Formats: sequence, C-alpha cells, structure tokens
Amino acid sequence: MTDKQPLIKLTGVTKSFQNGDLETRVLHGIDLEIYPGEFVAIIGQSGSGKSTLMNILGCLDKPTTGEYYFSGKNVSAFDADELAQLRREAFGFVFQSYNLLAGATACENVEMPATYSGMPPDERRERASELLSSLG
Ligand SMILES: Nc1ncnc2c1ncn2[C@@H]1O[C@H](COP(=O)(O)OP(=O)(O)OP(=O)(O)O)[C@@H](O)[C@H]1O
Ligand SMILES: [Mg+2]
Repeated sequence: MTDKQPLIKLTGVTKSFQNGDLETRVLHGIDLEIYPGEFVAIIGQSGSGKSTLMNILGCLDKPTTGEYYFSGKNVSAFDADELAQLRREAFGFVFQSYNLLAGATACENVEMPATYSGMPPDERRERASELLSSLG
C-alpha cells in the first residue's frame, strides 16, 4: 500500500478545548494514514477522543495543531467554502445522535444532502423514497 498516496493523512494532530481557564487536551499528536479502499475502525473507551478525531477527519472541526492532508491537499489551509465542498462530496457521516431535523419529514431529511449537491427536486425525492422503502 505504500506505493499509493494516502487518502487521509494526519501528522502530529492535537486538539484542546478551552473552557475559561480550563484547558482539556484530548488529542496528543495523532499520526495516521488511511489508504483508498481501507476499512478502518477507531476504537477506545468513552471520552478517549474518538468523536473529536472523527469531527476533524470529517472537516467538521479543525485541529489545534498539526496537519491534515486529504488526497495530498493540506485541508488546514482550506477556507469555509472549500471545506463545505469537501464535506459534501467526500464524506458520509452517521452521527451518534442522528441529527435529524424535527420539522422535516423522514423523506425530506433523507433528501436534504441532495439539495445541496444540486440534484433536481423530482430526482432527489424519488431517490429518497427508494432509499426509505429499501429500509422498510
Ligand atoms: N467542546 C468540548 N469542550 C470541552 N471538552 C470537550 C468538548 N468536546 C469533547 N470534550 C472532551 O473531550 C474528551 C473526548 O470526548 P469525545 O466525545 O471525543 O470522546 P469519545 O471517545 O467520542 O467518547 P464516546 O465513546 O462516549 O462517544 C472528553 O473528555 C470530553 O469531555
Ligand atoms: Mg463519541
């Protein structure tokens, strides 16, 4: 696998949360390489920093220090629009706490990401119905 470029590469990633005078250091210098096609599980006890790391990998949060390369590009230097594009096109998330919109129907919730990717309304509605039907 070493002849290919990693899809995801972290070097020396740290993450600290500051609440008033209290600093909580959660990630202490993570070096990680994930190659295309690899299936990776991040495991650890509750509070060990899995969600903190996943939020950084999915570009929902930024490292305090260290670098994140996605497909060789330094994500740490991306602006908000570039990050939004990467989130839309490269990542799929199943959140620990569903994050469904209470005011929207199940179908509208499933449809939502396709709205942002520019899929026409009829097409995305049909696709959302198909996906929900396949779940029963
Ligand atoms: N926004 C925040 N401000 C302060 N501390 C935080 C914040 N987010 C997370 N933490 C702390 O960081 C540590 C890691 O939390 P994290 O949610 O990443 O753990 P986890 O491994 O995902 O746990 P779980 O298995 O319970 O989901 C915990 O001590 C948590 O209290
Ligand atoms: Mg978690």
